[in-house]
Formats: sequence, structure tokens, C-alpha cells
Amino acid sequence: MHHFQYRGNELYCEDVPIQAIAQKVGTPFYLYSHATLTRHFKAFSDAFEGLDRLVCFSAKANTTLAVLKLLAGMGGGLDIVSGGELYRGLKAGFPPDRIVYSGVGKRMDEIDFALKTGILMFNIESLEELEMIQQRAMALDIKARIAIRVNPDVDPKTHPYISTGLKKNKFGIDTENALLAYQKASRMSHITVVGIDCHIGSQITEIRPFEDALKSLKDLIQTLKNQGIDIRYIDMGGGLGITYHEEAPPHPSEYAAAIARVLGNLKIRLVLEPGRVIVGNAGILVCQVLYRKTGPAKEFVITDAGMNDLIRPMLYHAYHEALPVVRSDRESFTADIVGPICESGDFLAQDRTIGYVQSGDLMAFMSAGAYGFVMSSNYCSRPRAAEVMVRGNRFEVIKQRETFEDLVAGESAPDWING
Ligand code: LLP
Repeated sequence: MHHFQYRGNELYCEDVPIQAIAQKVGTPFYLYSHATLTRHFKAFSDAFEGLDRLVCFSAKANTTLAVLKLLAGMGGGLDIVSGGELYRGLKAGFPPDRIVYSGVGKRMDEIDFALKTGILMFNIESLEELEMIQQRAMALDIKARIAIRVNPDVDPKTHPYISTGLKKNKFGIDTENALLAYQKASRMSHITVVGIDCHIGSQITEIRPFEDALKSLKDLIQTLKNQGIDIRYIDMGGGLGITYHEEAPPHPSEYAAAIARVLGNLKIRLVLEPGRVIVGNAGILVCQVLYRKTGPAKEFVITDAGMNDLIRPMLYHAYHEALPVVRSDRESFTADIVGPICESGDFLAQDRTIGYVQSGDLMAFMSAGAYGFVMSSNYCSRPRAAEVMVRGNRFEVIKQRETFEDLVAGESAPDWING
């Protein structure tokens, strides 16, 4: 459930008419609902009631400071994948001991930053990374807490670009080699083995792949225990899907119940890294129709948001529901909704039947809170959109729209260019 609903013919976010925000802020902008964010985080965390757990929001889904601050304030932890995300997480107030660090390509400076910060654990994805972390921990005289990210080779049955737990993927270490990595890690002077980790993919709409992955991790925990290696944290990653269109993903409570069932009486602290399920349906992208155009083969609606603002339709053929911000009695029609960018892949929806809109009207692209703004770019020198949050009947810009000056910040042309 989310708080973007029509009242009469007008689309509201909580108690604020979206039209009023557009008048003040201009378009395009991302819009987040405080009540929805809070509700989703609480529903997810409460689903694991009774289990010793830490819900580490996956920063990559949405790193806007206000969003992070809200989740930190609710007792959440953070799953990061870069030094930049660590910086943002600390700025938003996440305590270091609630931060986990995943990713196949952690750089030396990023490792140092995380070591000095004292994060909960590094989720290690290769033997070379393990050695690098040992080296850096030794140099800084800090003990690094680590988990090995195991690749359990289960098929999450999702889009190939966001499937991560198969043998052919670059992520994690396969079960056999993970055992060797643990043995090696347990002998290292500046490494403390504390956990085991996996993340099998994203937008997963079935329970089974999670259960299979967890069973595989549980077996490995037992093998490690037999060898004297004690695992205190089990990190199940993220990946629970949401409804964009017709998907029927399990409710967090079903997901949690399945995890609890497989865990059985194993005494361990559970770490979870949900991203999309917390923020996906808590945010939308609002834009304006610039023109309508009838071609020989198709009808087009041209908006002031393009693939640089929301790349998911182009990249994954992802579906985002398109709604007129003010509904009209006039007939709906079928069109491609496209942006202003000079690529045929610049579409937000294809062959979509939508409520009537014309030039000047506002449109909302739903379910855009996860992997929306964070994946936006300045392609075609388009300033990135503003971001706004609503709480009840209040709204505030939480990130200013970029200016032309922002676009050239940090650039310079040497004297010898034309010399
Ligand atoms: N943990 C790790 C290690 C991850 O790599 C990810 C996502 C998550 C947690 C959070 O997964 P979630 O709960 O959001 O499914 N850009 C794509 C999604 C890429 C996901 C990458 N990893 C999209 O727009 O669909």
C-alpha cells in the first residue's frame, strides 16, 4: 500500500495535491511519501519480530540524505557498496556498527575509510579482496570483521541484468571455494570472521530461491562450525520484489516466515539488505507533457523527463505505470511516452494505453522510488531532477534541481587548448 491516490480527479501524495508541488518546484521531479517509506520499513522489520535481526537498507536503491536519515532514525542499518555510500550513510546518521559493505570492486581507499569507520562487516567477494583487506587492516592496525559472500548458484528467475547468485555471475565465491576462503581468513592476523552472506538477485517474486540459498548457507555454517569457525551473522542480502504492474511478490511477512522456518533453531543474528521493497513504491517521477505527435506508425507523448531521469524502462524494459496527475473525461489513447533525448531507446513506456493528456499536462510515473534518481545522469547536459518529500500536508525540496552551473562544476580547459 502506498500514499499516492486520486482524490476526485486529482492525484495526491498523502494530503498534498501533486499539481501544487509542480507549480512550486517545476518539472521533472522525484516525489517521496514519508508515510509510505515509514510504513514499508516498519512492515519489513516487524515481519521478522522475534528474530534477532538487523535491517540494513540497501543504499544503492536510493541514497538521498533525507531518505537515509528517515531510515536511520527508525533504527535501520545500511548496506553500502562504495565509499560514497559510506560517506552519505554516516552523514545521515547511521551508526558504523550497523553498516555492512558489499561489492566486488572495493578500492584500497574505500577499504581504509570503512576500516577507520569501524563498520560491522565487509562482505568479501574474492580471495584477492580478502588479502587486500588483511593487508590494509594490518597497515592501520585495526581488526577487520568479515563475512564471505557465498554464491549459492540458485536461479532467482529475474531479469538477467539483476540476477547475481548464479555460477556465471561475477558476484561472491562459490560454496567450495568459500570454505577455503574461510579457512584462509581464520588464520589471518587482522581478520575476524563473523558472518556469512549472500545476495542472489533483485526483483524476486518467489520465495523458493531465497529458501534454497538459505539452506545452502546453513549447511556451510554447520561445516564451518565442525572446523571450529563460528558464524554469528547471516546476511541474506536483499532482492524481495514489488508490484510494478501485475507481479504478485510475497509479502514481507511470508518472506520472513520462510526464512524463520529454514533457520529453525539456529542461534544467529540475521542481517537483511532490502532496497526496492522499502523505497520502490514510496516514490514517483512527475513530469510534464511537452508535445503530442502523431507519426505514420505511432502516436507519441513527449515529456520533459527522459532516459537520463529514469533509465529502467530502457535498460530492463521495466514497466512503470503512467498516470495523468489530473484525470480527464476525454478518451484514453495508446502511445509511446518518450523523452527529449536523441536516442530511440529514450522511452518511459511503449505502446501504452493511458488516460488522456495533452501538452502542458502533468504525468506521474509510479514505483520510481528505487533505482530511479540514483541511476539518473546528465546525458545531453540535462540537469538532474529535483527531489521532494511529502509528510502529511507538508512538502519540501530535499534535493535542489541541478543548474547549468552545476553541469560545468569542476571542469576546466587548459590554456594550451587553442595555443
Ligand atoms: N544487497 C546487495 C549486495 C545488492 O547488490 C542489492 C542490489 C541489494 C542488496 C538490494 O536489492 P533489492 O532489495 O533492491 O532488490 N538497478 C536495478 C537493480 C539492481 C540491484 C543491484 N543490487 C533495477 O533498477 O532494477
